[in-house]
Amino acid sequence: MSINIKNADLEISAGLASQFPNKPLCNIVFSGRSNVGKSSLINTLLGRNKLARVSSSPGKTITVNFYNVDDKLYFVDLPGYGFAKRAPDEKRKWSMLVEDYFKSMSERNDELLVIQLVDMKVGATQDDKLMLDWMNRTGVNYAICATKCDKLNKTEYAKSLKKLESDPEIEEGTDIIPFSSLNGTGKDRLFDLILDFAELK
Ligand code: GTP
Ligand code: MG
Repeated sequence: MSINIKNADLEISAGLASQFPNKPLCNIVFSGRSNVGKSSLINTLLGRNKLARVSSSPGKTITVNFYNVDDKLYFVDLPGYGFAKRAPDEKRKWSMLVEDYFKSMSERNDELLVIQLVDMKVGATQDDKLMLDWMNRTGVNYAICATKCDKLNKTEYAKSLKKLESDPEIEEGTDIIPFSSLNGTGKDRLFDLILDFAELK
């Protein structure tokens, strides 16, 4: 592997668009609803327990967190959406910040890969569908990660995977990777996909 994943750190926790870094590195963006497992997945991928903060009470701070991985990639942890208890002004802040982020990348589509996380047990929510619809319309590169797959038995797992594979909101041919931060399922496959995208193999 031509990247040293041990050399990873939080570069900035940006609450304002002016704080987004502008180094010309590929951005691998982790998107999904609150509590879907974004931070846990980043920790699992980077082999670190506590780099990204795993929340017990979801959706506390609205920031876009940029993890610099060996000065070759950014892992971007977007604030989670769809947390029912969020106040309206927090929801507004979420939309503005996420919109600003994608706007800041709009001229850099080939350096942008969204890993869209969907809870494998819950399936795609209304909010997930909005995000998928937006990605389909704008032509952003994306893959799906079906999280917390350790929670499903064999039958549920097969059923849920099939449902995602035939979901009309997910463009045909999109990679769908079942993932577990508890037992590491999907880690190698997801890493492979990321390195492939960033041409770092
Ligand atoms: P926000 O930052 O609030 O948007 O949440 P998040 O998407 O970053 O989720 P986070 O990684 O903080 O995980 C939320 C909860 O799900 C925590 O209690 C985790 O321990 C749990 N969790 C995360 N990944 C897994 C998984 O693969 N399997 C299981 N069983 N639980 C998980
Ligand atoms: Mg998180």
